[in-house]
Amino acid sequence: MCGIIGVLGNHEVAPLLVESLKRLEYRGYDSAGIATVNGGRLDRRRAVGKLVNLSDLLVHEPLAGKAGIGHTRWATHGAATVGNAHPHRSGPVAVVHNGIIENFRELREEAAAAGLRAETQTDTETVALITRMFIDRGLPPREAAVATLKKLEGAFALLWIFEGEDDLLIAARKGSPLAIGHGDGEMFVGSDAIALAPLTDRITYLAEGDYAFVTRKGAEIYDAEGRRANRDETRIDLGATRVEKGGYKHFMAKEIAEQPVVLGDALRHYLGEDAVNLPETLDFTGLDQLTLVACGTAFYACTVAKYWFESLAGLPCEIDVASEFRYREPPLPENSFAVFVSQSGETADTLAALRYCAEKVRKTVAVVNVATSSIARECDVALPILAGVEVGVASTKAFTCQLLVLAVMALKAGVDRGRIGPEALAAHMEALRSLPGLMNAALATSEPIVKLAERLAEAQDILFLGRGPMFPLALEGALKLKEISYIHAEGYASGELKHGPIALIDRTVPVIVMAPHDRLFDKTVSNMQEVMARHGMVLLISDAKGIAEAAEGTWATLKMPAVAEPFAPILYALPAQLLAYHTAIAKGTDVDQPRNLAKSVTVE
Ligand code: F6R
Repeated sequence: MCGIIGVLGNHEVAPLLVESLKRLEYRGYDSAGIATVNGGRLDRRRAVGKLVNLSDLLVHEPLAGKAGIGHTRWATHGAATVGNAHPHRSGPVAVVHNGIIENFRELREEAAAAGLRAETQTDTETVALITRMFIDRGLPPREAAVATLKKLEGAFALLWIFEGEDDLLIAARKGSPLAIGHGDGEMFVGSDAIALAPLTDRITYLAEGDYAFVTRKGAEIYDAEGRRANRDETRIDLGATRVEKGGYKHFMAKEIAEQPVVLGDALRHYLGEDAVNLPETLDFTGLDQLTLVACGTAFYACTVAKYWFESLAGLPCEIDVASEFRYREPPLPENSFAVFVSQSGETADTLAALRYCAEKVRKTVAVVNVATSSIARECDVALPILAGVEVGVASTKAFTCQLLVLAVMALKAGVDRGRIGPEALAAHMEALRSLPGLMNAALATSEPIVKLAERLAEAQDILFLGRGPMFPLALEGALKLKEISYIHAEGYASGELKHGPIALIDRTVPVIVMAPHDRLFDKTVSNMQEVMARHGMVLLISDAKGIAEAAEGTWATLKMPAVAEPFAPILYALPAQLLAYHTAIAKGTDVDQPRNLAKSVTVE
């Protein structure tokens, strides 16, 4: 969360900084700001809210200079005010930061004792104060920054610029990602390659603990021990960093619609003629346990996958949200794999969970969208989900592609463990191959969904129900709806309703039942009847057979194509996403950048 950018350019940098911040806005949009050094003079502009407010400010109060830093904020410490917006400045020092400085209170006291008072509620300001403290004691900027770094606890990606230094940017990374971009006589630093894509395709990723002195001639990189370090320069595929709406009103709409195509790409990558294409080293034979860890939507993908690994491969499966997993000291069998699922590949808790597992299990596996991310790089095996850049804060296509990769892994596990023979494998692969076509049919429900959404938008509370692998999908449907429409929604296992939540049911509560006509259908329908007996408004999402059998008494139905049983969650994700999207549109909320959220959660 929070996006940072730095440019040492040959032209005015303010427009470049703003352009890069636009591409980083998915990381936070509580405030934005830039600082430049112009003929040695340091100055800054900051504005609360979306980036457009900063752009407007710059029209009236332009900022000159060929060296600068910029920031888009997701507030952690201190409200979204101009005073708390980055860059933070103390005397000759300006800093932008992504992460959390955990010992900022002590540092604030230390700075105060040196006569430097904090003026904001942020943790970041202390970095500027302490660096200035060292400069006041006579250290040059480079030494002052390194001395400051030694004092910092927590997670950070940091950039400094200094008054009087038109050709110096200092960058440091611990826990949060940072990439250096190489231009011709120009240098750039940014939170990710997406931010740098319009500027350069030549990227060097800083490793954990690295810091760098960047001038227009290049970057001198040092490791956490202060030794000169060589980090590879790579060329990124600029096509893979394209962020355009392509005629859609919102990124989320585009990303929902893209699913048949991206899933097709992933299928071609992971399914061979008569076997799945996964590294041979990913051998599930005789494995004692699989541990799946993630956050949010990615965690719900893991929860669906637990059903698959257990039923298709007979493989015991542990799942947990990363923020709990990392601190509960779970014992892990040595003969096990640990899988980390993450769209961004940078989620702080998931990364920490991976580091916890690294030495304890036989193999760590990343299921990620961003192939160059920290989680991808730190795992033994990285499986890309191939969803393409996902910009909408609410995850859609990444979820279905995560599910697909996990399904393919479950099939391999079933084969390796002698649970799935050649015929069953062929049938499962065929079922997966049919998904893009079925998704196209599911997207056609968009029209009736617009009407249903108008009614859902009036609700205060909405429940989602599902059984078996559709239960996690109920959780995902509720998450999607609440995060972009701000309507309170909960997902429950259908059978669990009568153990408490049924008390919520009355005429005003829509209950969305996701129930393909599978072996659990009748049981789910019984639970649906219990809701209707209490006047709950049921929306039944099922296939033709299910609707023919159970539509009576429902408020509405939504027809899905029939789908092979285990993989129904991949298809039913689409109506759940469309319901959330159109309800948010009906409510007039900000679909792509819902309040309080950010796309990449790099703080714990
Ligand atoms: C919800 C959503 C989040 C993310 C979660 C993990 O729509 O997108 O719940 O799934 O923040 O993010 P990643 O997958 O980047 O680790």
